[in-house]
Amino acid sequence: MCGIVGYSGPENPKDVILSGLKSLEYRGYDSAGVAILNHGEFKRIRAEGKLSTLQKKLESETFDGHLGIGHTRWATHGAPVEKNAHPHTVRGISLVHNGIIENYLELKDALGPQTKFTSDTDSELVAHLIADEIERTHDLLKAVVNVLPRLQGAYSILVVSKDHPDEMVAFKNGPPLIVGSAQGAVLVASDVQAILPYTKKVVYLNDLEIAHVKGESFKVFDSLGRPLEKSVTTIDWTAEQAKKEGYEHFMLKEIFEQPRAVARVLAPHVDVSKHTVHVLEGTGLSERFREAERIAVIACGTSFYAGQVGAYLLEKLAKVSVTTDIASEFRYREPVIAKNTVAILISQSGETADTLAVLRQLKKVKVPVLSICNVKNSTIDREADGHLYMNSGPEVGVASTKAFTSTLALLHLLALDVAKVRSTLPLQDEERYVRALLAAPAQMETVLACDKFFGEAAATLKNFKGFLYMGRGVNYPIALEGALKLKELAYMHAEGYAAGEMKHGPLALIDGRMAVVMLAPSDELYEKTLSNLEEAKARGGVIISIGTLGNDKLRDLSTHYLALPRAEWSVNPMLEAIPLQLLAYHVAHALGHDVDQPRNLAKSVTVE
Ligand code: AGP
Repeated sequence: MCGIVGYSGPENPKDVILSGLKSLEYRGYDSAGVAILNHGEFKRIRAEGKLSTLQKKLESETFDGHLGIGHTRWATHGAPVEKNAHPHTVRGISLVHNGIIENYLELKDALGPQTKFTSDTDSELVAHLIADEIERTHDLLKAVVNVLPRLQGAYSILVVSKDHPDEMVAFKNGPPLIVGSAQGAVLVASDVQAILPYTKKVVYLNDLEIAHVKGESFKVFDSLGRPLEKSVTTIDWTAEQAKKEGYEHFMLKEIFEQPRAVARVLAPHVDVSKHTVHVLEGTGLSERFREAERIAVIACGTSFYAGQVGAYLLEKLAKVSVTTDIASEFRYREPVIAKNTVAILISQSGETADTLAVLRQLKKVKVPVLSICNVKNSTIDREADGHLYMNSGPEVGVASTKAFTSTLALLHLLALDVAKVRSTLPLQDEERYVRALLAAPAQMETVLACDKFFGEAAATLKNFKGFLYMGRGVNYPIALEGALKLKELAYMHAEGYAAGEMKHGPLALIDGRMAVVMLAPSDELYEKTLSNLEEAKARGGVIISIGTLGNDKLRDLSTHYLALPRAEWSVNPMLEAIPLQLLAYHVAHALGHDVDQPRNLAKSVTVE
């Protein structure tokens, strides 16, 4: 997940772009760069490391032009070194990119060996494609229109050309791009925060839309180059809204924050040049995990469901026996603890009374405990033997959202590293999973678009008598989490089930007033999940299915079908969580409930 800024206007572009990048640094900070007009050419300056390194490099640089682009990078393709930093420049084209071009190898092969690449990125390929088109069309906008249909993936891109020195073209499919008009200037950015110091009036680009900036104005076109009328949004935040970054509730803000929260939790543990994982190193528990005969995952509520997903990952990747327990059950059931057990305790707050009691119980019998907390220096964090952090930033909404998906990402890394120390996963598989994880933040940004669907559907959904959430395998705990979200926010009856269990009882619940939320992404259990879905459909259930793009059979069986981007089976839970959170949020809101502080609940449950 990277940050993009573009500026065309009377002020010094260097200053505007740097201050914009500063506000976007949360999106990525392993390298940064700018390309700013100077003597009719785009002068490119890039630097490895944090934005401050680029800032230093730019101190002595001057530019006489009034247009430029900038980027702060979070590496997915290629190591975080200067040659891979953006902008990428090819024959007078300079381009910055956020996201992933999925068919990049295919497109690169089509260009042939005569096309020389100077970086290891998928982004440079797009610069080559646009440079080729500019040579044919001599028109920057047309060049983008011609290249757009060839790109697959989730991306947002901003491009300039030395032959069109007063123009910038921005286009996107998935990750956000916003355009704002100020006095005699136009700004383009990944996030409204980079634009707000200059103007409160912005235009949000939809997928497959193109913004063409010329001098001090801009127009928006569809993917075929036909002009579009776009509405201008005025960002008028009060102090309270500013804390919520303009969202109506903290929960909604936190749902939308998830791509960056996940990017943040991955960053310190991944070597992006080698696509390998190093998460156990700092915990001091590598040896314990290598020797473990059993891993015990224990937590409460949403943290417990994250732990259940982790159990699937640990068993499948690290081939180790895993038990999962609800802390309040574990502490009183006099558990028989297997030899060489290592425990993983998960708690966002780090203060949950039952989880803390389990920690103390385990320490008494000398079981090493790895804690996964969001709040540093919380009691559980302090008392555990090894520590990992969700790194989500403060979560204010009582319903846990970003801490959940960050924990899923962290547990995935942990499962990969445990697999490594136990030698159960070939290196190429580790690399494949790491690539899939690195792609997740951009994919999550795409999934957030279903906010609109649930915003509209909530008026109908709130009238159902109940909701059954179903999934199989790694998707099953997500069904449980989806049901919990709806219960705690909308106060409606909701249950999560393993889809294979339907015919053992819950099928009797289904009629036209029961909504069935089916998680059926493309994975090895897809066909089996479809059969479970047919059972529900035959009984008249209203089916909301969440599957993978192109699952036509699933779409045809469903009343509503939401398509997730293609991902590894192990990443699907992180994508599926988002629509379920949005469903619960919008239904609760439509019912007039206090979304951030649902009745009878507290953020930190420090009593039994
Ligand atoms: C989730 O939305 C809940 N508010 C709740 O289930 C929560 O996850 C649980 O109380 C555990 O909290 P913890 O992660 O702080 O230990």
